[in-house]
Parts: sequence; C-alpha cells; structure tokens
Amino acid sequence: MSTSTFDTTACLDGLLRSRCSVRAFRDEAVPRETVLEILRVASRAPSNSNTQPWQVYALAGPAIRELEAAIAAVFDSGQLPPPHHFPVPLPDEYGVRQADFAARYYQALGIDRSDAAARARQTRRNFGFFGAPVGLIFAIDACLKPHSWLDLGLFLQSVMLAARARGLDTCPQVSFAPYHAVIAPLLGMPDGQVTVCGLSLGYRDERAPVNSVETPRRGVDAFVRTLGF
Ligand SMILES: Cc1cc2nc3c(=O)[nH]c(=O)nc-3n(C[C@H](O)[C@H](O)[C@H](O)COP(=O)(O)O)c2cc1C
Repeated sequence: MSTSTFDTTACLDGLLRSRCSVRAFRDEAVPRETVLEILRVASRAPSNSNTQPWQVYALAGPAIRELEAAIAAVFDSGQLPPPHHFPVPLPDEYGVRQADFAARYYQALGIDRSDAAARARQTRRNFGFFGAPVGLIFAIDACLKPHSWLDLGLFLQSVMLAARARGLDTCPQVSFAPYHAVIAPLLGMPDGQVTVCGLSLGYRDERAPVNSVETPRRGVDAFVRTLGF
C-alpha cells in the first residue's frame, strides 16, 4: 500500500468511525458558506442516472425557532401524527436492536423508561435540532421510488462525513417526517415534495452525557455471506 493510499484510508476510516449522532451542541455559529461547502462536496454522491433527487432547506437562527414552534404546537396538542417510519409490528430482529438503543439513550440522559413525560420532552428537542446552530431539512419529489430515496441516503451520509471532516457533528432525524404538513408551507416547499428527514449540524458539546451513547454494530459475519473467494 502506498503512503498516500494509507493516508486516504486512515482518513476516511477515521471519519466513518468518528461520526456518531450528536444531540447536544455548543453555542457556536456555523457560517452559511461552510454549510454550502459541505452540501457542495456532498453532492458528489452518486445517484441513479445522475438524477440527484435531493432537495435541502438550510435553517439557522429565527428560521429554526419558527419551525420548532410550529411543530411543537402540534406535538404539545397531543394530536400526534402516527409514526410511519417503521412497520407495525417491527420484526423482532430489529425490535431487539431498537430496544437496546433506547435503553442506552435514556440511561445516558438519566431518564427512566417508565417516565413518559420526560421521554416526550426529549423527543420534543428534535424539533429545535437539539440546540444546533444549523438545521437541514431533506426533501424529495414524492413521485420517486425507493431507489431514489437510496440516492438521498447516500447524499445524507456524504453530508455527515463532509461535516465531520470540518470538525462538525450531526444527527439525522426522521422525527421531522410526520410533520410534513407543518413544515412544507413554512419552508415554501412546492407541491409534490415530501419531507424525508432533518439533520442537526453544529459543534458537539463534549460535556453532554447524551453524546457518549455507545451504539454497537453487528459483526460482519452476522450480515455477510461470502461466496467464491
Ligand atoms: C434515517 C435516520 C433517522 C434517524 N432519526 C433520528 C431521530 O429522529 N432522532 C434521533 O435522536 N436520532 C435519530 N437517528 C439516529 C439513530 O438513532 C442513530 O443513527 C443510531 O442509533 C446509531 O447511532 P450513531 O448514529 O451514533 O452511530 C436517525 C438515524 C437515521 C440514519
């Protein structure tokens, strides 16, 4: 392996390993130009026939507060849109990992799993992008099929890695998706676009216990079958 290959490998592996979902941020602004630079380089992500189906709304300051207030008003009314990102029931294999994550998450926050009010308060923090200085909303044309959503996922991961390369942290957030009807008019989304997810973007608060949640991964043997090597 040449030195430059090694450097590149170590660098990319380092970014992949150091990315984690951050849910508490320092009060430090991220310049608009940095956000645009991250989105520009992330747009090198591949897409089916180079269709580039992603659409991004980048929010800061009052735009975040306005969105947060509008979603929180619906959330607080108790008229929650039904969660729609997992099937009901969730097959056991995934349910076990989801429960493991929830246990680690609420433990880090010092929230008892039976304390529904405290859990709801933490869920509500999603809508203010966990205090991050920048919030991104990702949308896609509703007529597109699952493989275009895959393109958007590749773009999303590229955004997270480009952010990491600049010392920034992120948290992808499906929590926004059920509130599309609130989000769309506020952001001026055209008809036919649908909210896919949000992303908090900012500098991690190193002291916040919630940022030290460990999320183990399955070993490769659990999800890979090798043939013909
Ligand atoms: C598409 C997607 C949606 C997510 N939605 C949320 C969310 O709404 N709120 C949240 O706190 N974390 C959310 N997460 C973060 C996951 O909980 C996290 O990625 C997972 O537990 C693995 O942890 P890690 O990102 O720290 O490696 C989401 C992640 C992805 C990829």
